Amino acid sequence: MDDQTWARTPIEPQSVNAPLSAAAIFLVVTVAADETSLATARDVVSDIGALVRAVGFRDLGGRLSCNVGIGSALWERLGQPSRPRQLDRFHTIPGSGGHTAVSTPGDLLFHIRGERLDQCFELERLILAKLGDAVEVVDETQGFRYFDSRDLLGFVDGTENPTGQSMAEAALIGDEDPDFTGGSYVVVQKYLHDLAAWGTLSTEQQEAIIGRTKADNLELDDGERLSHKGLNTIVDENGVEHDILRDNMPFGRPGAKEFGTYFIGYSRDLWVIDHMLRRMFIGSPVGEYDRILDFSKAVTGTTFFVPSNDVLEGLAP
Ligand code: HEM
Repeated sequence: MDDQTWARTPIEPQSVNAPLSAAAIFLVVTVAADETSLATARDVVSDIGALVRAVGFRDLGGRLSCNVGIGSALWERLGQPSRPRQLDRFHTIPGSGGHTAVSTPGDLLFHIRGERLDQCFELERLILAKLGDAVEVVDETQGFRYFDSRDLLGFVDGTENPTGQSMAEAALIGDEDPDFTGGSYVVVQKYLHDLAAWGTLSTEQQEAIIGRTKADNLELDDGERLSHKGLNTIVDENGVEHDILRDNMPFGRPGAKEFGTYFIGYSRDLWVIDHMLRRMFIGSPVGEYDRILDFSKAVTGTTFFVPSNDVLEGLAP
């Protein structure tokens, strides 16, 4: 078996590689402590494909998909014979500059994507109706594609995402963890932006923080201080670059002055995202943290494992 076992065998990843969509819903829930609730959760997640088909078939052009992520504590409760090697809860990172990557609860993540918000909404409604009192909703965020894939800071977001074979190599577990081939680790963080403060910066200052030009989205060389792009470029001691797959979505309620980016990153190796977060929050060198954080506050932070469809279906009670 080699790294690409998942591509040649019946092992089927969830829709980790779904195309960037016009709409998304990020739903994070905790599962109540009793055994009946656990059985309900098992039932719903193992049969999620049926719900996606029921709603998705009503308009196949809507390209509806849903990835289910399972948190570390819930994985323990499921009593599986083995555990994804790198699965861990999200650990708070007390950063420099007063910025903290907070850790917040979450047993299950439903990452719903599609071209139509009504289809995403309907799927979320049905998932929650089936889960009933077995779960408590910790966070639900509706994201939308904003013009040419810009975040609310005004920059094109997602450009350097790996595609094709590189996507699989970055986001899907190969044969290094054979019980979980085709799985993926996913980290979510909900960020709230201070757009008024961001708006006081010149375009050049904003571009230096992000590491790309704003209008035409070209990569810039970093100055003395590493940009967001520079801090998130992870090269190991062998000179190998490690990437992740992101599908951030803007969200907001102008009436409540709420403007945000929902960060979601899938990775074959959880340590890569952890490394990125440490470089952003603590800085490289220490103290030279990501200046995006002066204008964006992380209000959630949770890690999940997204098993292959086969493993997910095997969780049925
Ligand atoms: C406020 C939240 C965030 C915003 C608004 C944001 C925005 C951006 C933008 C505009 C880019 C440049 C275009 C692109 O390649 O996508 C970018 C790149 C990137 N971001 Fe973020 N990001 C955020 C949080 C994060 C977090 C938390 C991580 C990792 C844990 C991350 C990882 C990356 C990576 C890996 C790149 C590509 C770097 C490269 O290879 O050029 N971002 N982000």
